[in-house]
Amino acid sequence: MNLRTAARGFVAFLLSVPALQGNYNWEVTYPFSNVCALRGSTVNIRCTYKYRSGLTVEKEQWYTSIHNEPVDLKDDTDYTGRVDYRCGEPRCGSYSCTGTCTLKIKDLTQSDSAEYKFRITTNKGGAYSGVPGVKLSVTDLQVKVVIPPTRPNRVRLECHSMCHFTRYPTYTWYRDGTQQHHGWFTWFYINSEYRSSCAVQGSKHLPSPSVYAPETPLVGVTPPGVIKEGSSVNLTCTSEANPVAKYTWSKVTTDHPPGHSVQGQQLSFHPIQSSDSGQYLCKAENDLGTKSSSPFSIDVKYGPKHTFVISRPPGEIMEGGSVTLSCSSDANPAADYTWFKDNQPLPWEPRRPYTLDSVRSKDRGTYRCQAENQYGYLGSNSVFIDVLYAPKTPSVSVRPPGEIKEGGSVTLSCSSDANLAADYTWFREHGGSVEELGENYTISNITTELGGNYYCEARNAVGLQNSTLMFLNVTATSSSPSSVPTTVAAGTVAVLLASILLLIFLWKRRKRASRKAHGQGGRPDTGEESPPCPVYDNVSALTNRSASAAQREPIEEQDDLHYASIHISRSKNQEVPCGFAGALVESDHTEQVLYSAINLKRPKAVPDKLM
Ligand SMILES: *[C@@H]1O[C@H](CO)[C@@H](O)[C@H](O)[C@H]1NC(C)=O
Ligand SMILES: *[C@@H]1O[C@H](CO)[C@@H](O)[C@H](O)[C@H]1NC(C)=O
Ligand SMILES: *[C@@H]1O[C@H](CO)[C@@H](O)[C@H](O)[C@H]1NC(C)=O
Ligand SMILES: *[C@@H]1O[C@H](CO)[C@@H](O)[C@H](O)[C@H]1NC(C)=O
Ligand SMILES: *[C@@H]1O[C@H](CO)[C@@H](O)[C@H](O)[C@H]1NC(C)=O
Repeated sequence: MNLRTAARGFVAFLLSVPALQGNYNWEVTYPFSNVCALRGSTVNIRCTYKYRSGLTVEKEQWYTSIHNEPVDLKDDTDYTGRVDYRCGEPRCGSYSCTGTCTLKIKDLTQSDSAEYKFRITTNKGGAYSGVPGVKLSVTDLQVKVVIPPTRPNRVRLECHSMCHFTRYPTYTWYRDGTQQHHGWFTWFYINSEYRSSCAVQGSKHLPSPSVYAPETPLVGVTPPGVIKEGSSVNLTCTSEANPVAKYTWSKVTTDHPPGHSVQGQQLSFHPIQSSDSGQYLCKAENDLGTKSSSPFSIDVKYGPKHTFVISRPPGEIMEGGSVTLSCSSDANPAADYTWFKDNQPLPWEPRRPYTLDSVRSKDRGTYRCQAENQYGYLGSNSVFIDVLYAPKTPSVSVRPPGEIKEGGSVTLSCSSDANLAADYTWFREHGGSVEELGENYTISNITTELGGNYYCEARNAVGLQNSTLMFLNVTATSSSPSSVPTTVAAGTVAVLLASILLLIFLWKRRKRASRKAHGQGGRPDTGEESPPCPVYDNVSALTNRSASAAQREPIEEQDDLHYASIHISRSKNQEVPCGFAGALVESDHTEQVLYSAINLKRPKAVPDKLM
């Protein structure tokens, strides 16, 4: 039995003797009890049957399964359109009739592998099945790869089927569908691009599956879309290959040696971390070759981490200097930054370092930044920027406030806004610095001489600044009004003048008396003095009257008599009017005493008139 005669395009052969069953009159025989056929091919299963003469065949059936009754393959939905019976007309002899019936199944599938049985039903005497039936095996041709111990650049391909041939069929090899040569094996050079297949000679349309090296693997990611840190991500590598490829994953690194590799078609990240970002390669390998995917990039997105501020230069900044604050944060995508000074947000561009070109004292404070992207935000550490500046114009004050009395105590205070803290010195205008250093200068037991202008100087490492002048007005403690001593002095002068005049008068009178004692005699000098007395309100009235009296009797005309005598009329006026120092005018004839009033408030007038 050779393959060419077995069937059109299929492989079949007899393994055992034909099945026979029946009694004396009945018989169903199959020429082959085992049939092997290639998938996709068409198979013919034949039988011969006998029955007693005189009966009529009513039904001829092929079947595989029995429910209640055998199911005719023509009615079996699994075979719809694929089965056909060719049953000849029985020929009858005197005792029995003989017929043949062939089952034809086309487009064989693996599930057609079964035991097929034939059954006849006659008008009398019932039905008869040929059991056991014919076992059909539907198979593929397979190319087997055999790796020789030497020549590793090529492998041997062998053509195989599941059928147990008593005599191997002749195979034909194909390369990308193009016929190559006959034979049960061929050579395949590793990493060749073509596909190899074999077929039974003459059945080119029923080739084995092709074998080939892996095609360029494709990498897919699930779930698709943005990869967020912490999520679960699978990378799947697929490569067409026969035999099926094995997969190896590796991460592209610049390190030597490269990072470890992972076997398997799927690379799982559970959960994925930011450090998993990078490029991955998938390598597909089978016995016929190896192929790598193009690098597959994983970009893990995450919110800011490790946000911190750096100040350049760090620490203290001189006023007018510049400082740059840089915020950095690990984030993907890159974060935007918000700046805060003393917890108040600062208007600033989100990506630029915070720069102060000319630092002012108001810039002193605590700075921090906050990094933010769509996956989160994170605040930074705080950086204290201390701005050193020269003292501002100091303000000055005096305590206690109000009038400063001689003998009291005052404290001058100076204060100035400065960083670093200022040292203070008090100065007296045109007088140099005071002895005490410090913001508070206390003067105890102050005197009027210590009054005047003071100012203080505030000084630190950055500079110095003077305050404005502060005037200290010290009041003397004496309570007498200034006019009183003048009056007293004028009074004293007047009394003194009057006393001198009186002495001269007395002296002249004594001289005259001594002359009269030689002639007329004289009167004794009483020697009385006027006592001190109060000031009268009507002094000016008296003065006017005396003045007019003096004019009627001019002093000049009686010049020689002027100091000659004085008579104090005691009868009318026992006391000399007090407080009056008079220009005593006397004449020998009348002995009249004239009083000249002196205004004590205008002491200069008296000597002028008297002289
Ligand atoms: C990743 O693969 C594992 C194992 O196959 C599966 O359990 C998991 O659901 C997959 N995850 C995703 C996100 O596809
Ligand atoms: C100066 O006086 C003010 C007010 O009394 C006081 O608060 C301050 O401590 C004083 N400074 C010094 C250095 O004594
Ligand atoms: C105040 O100064 C005056 C004059 O220098 C002195 O006589 C007096 O004793 C001082 N008083 C006090 C309390 O120091
Ligand atoms: C402040 O006063 C001191 C002492 O009089 C003087 O030397 C200095 O120049 C003054 N400084 C300013 C800024 O006016
Ligand atoms: C000092 O104080 C006295 C009394 O209050 C006042 O009369 C005088 O004008 C003041 N002097 C100055 C220079 O302010």
